[in-house]
Amino acid sequence: MKEKFIIQGLGGEKALSGEISVNGAKNAVLKAMAASLLFADEVVLKNVPDIEDVARMEELLTALGVQVETGKNKDKDTRKLKCGKNILSDMPTEISKRFRASIVVSGPLLARLGKISFPHPGGCVIGARPIDLFLEGFQKMGATVQEKDGAYFVEAKDGLKGTEIFFRNQSVGATETFMMAAVLAKGKTTLKNCAMEPEIASLAEFLVSCGAKIKGAGTTTIEIIGGGKLRAKGKAYHTLPDRLETGSFLILGALAAKDLLIKNCEPEHVSALLEMLQYSGVKLEIGKKSIRVLGGDFSNADLRAFNVKTHEYPGFSTDLQSPMVVFLTQVAGESLVFETIFEGRLNYTAELARMGADITMWDANRVMIKGPTPLKGRELESPDIRTGYAFVIAGIIARGETVIHNVYYIDRGYATIEKRLQNIGVQITRVGA
Ligand code: UD1
Repeated sequence: MKEKFIIQGLGGEKALSGEISVNGAKNAVLKAMAASLLFADEVVLKNVPDIEDVARMEELLTALGVQVETGKNKDKDTRKLKCGKNILSDMPTEISKRFRASIVVSGPLLARLGKISFPHPGGCVIGARPIDLFLEGFQKMGATVQEKDGAYFVEAKDGLKGTEIFFRNQSVGATETFMMAAVLAKGKTTLKNCAMEPEIASLAEFLVSCGAKIKGAGTTTIEIIGGGKLRAKGKAYHTLPDRLETGSFLILGALAAKDLLIKNCEPEHVSALLEMLQYSGVKLEIGKKSIRVLGGDFSNADLRAFNVKTHEYPGFSTDLQSPMVVFLTQVAGESLVFETIFEGRLNYTAELARMGADITMWDANRVMIKGPTPLKGRELESPDIRTGYAFVIAGIIARGETVIHNVYYIDRGYATIEKRLQNIGVQITRVGA
């Protein structure tokens, strides 16, 4: 059933208060689930968020022959994954096309079986999202790649071989895929110009604890010595807190909270954002695993504008770009936002302009924002996970009612978001369309 959110806006008032807890990271757990294909025994995952993309990954792995079990009651955020006797090599088209992260299954699956097929992956509509780095990497590791009717057939008859791969672009998915593939390849693989996201280091740490030989994850050069299948022997992977959820809550708090405590987070993983908000004048108390936003102490119109350029980690994340644009519509002065990772990821700004924001599109990758401008509630369509959430923020700070359609996109990345927001004082309801 298609659902929508209805939000009664605060009209600029700083009213939210209380505590909000950060869930496990979507972008970490999906890769750890894919990594179950590298194991001879069962893998236990903890702090798994209850989101649509996890359900899609479960569907995909189950279709390939992995047994997935969800914990009961207080363990319902636990998953146990165990490869069955017959793991299939063809990734089902229908399921794989529904989410981009399906592509990271290709590496461990190919390394395990020596042969796979998969369709061009789907996912959020944020630019072309090519897979050239994946196809070239498989070839460098000794596989042949053929494309037929929109599907890719990859085969490494004698298994994958260690090699050196220099990624033309820093890609999170490609770094993870080849780090995993190399664990079961013959010999040494060196990956260069790797992405440095904390989810990569977290995955490597778990794989190493289960017997993998990986050095350098979290830096731009990763070395892997291939070997046999890994064994978890009861060790569990703890999904790290979602830094994108943390960042989204921070931006909401900076705009609309009197006093908000964001709990169970890793402040170091949102350093770029913290730096920007503090520069702007937002009052924050940064703890070890929490961040408090004291919004009652300042007016948004007193905050300073600044420029934003999205960047690979540890720079400012492209996934926080749309919530940040909403923030910048409320502060004093001009800001230039430059999206450098994905094309087309600024198209939604036209919707914010219709809510009253003063945004000029310079080109497909750059917008100029003049603030502060009050926003008026509107009917909106959620185009992707993060922008869907940015629209929720816009609705919360706006005057009047905002209706957000296509809530499925928000559910892909945020678990029961309306309940968690209601707890801190947001008037938001989910209704069937
Ligand atoms: C991951 C995150 C996503 C985040 C993105 C960038 C997951 C599930 N998703 O996506 O939330 O927005 O990192 O931080 O972890 N590229 C190529 N060729 C390829 C692969 C990628 O040119 O074969 C380019 C992309 O078009 C993009 C850039 O590399 O311009 C970075 O993309 P990438 O890091 O691969 O993003 P994802 O791993 O898909």
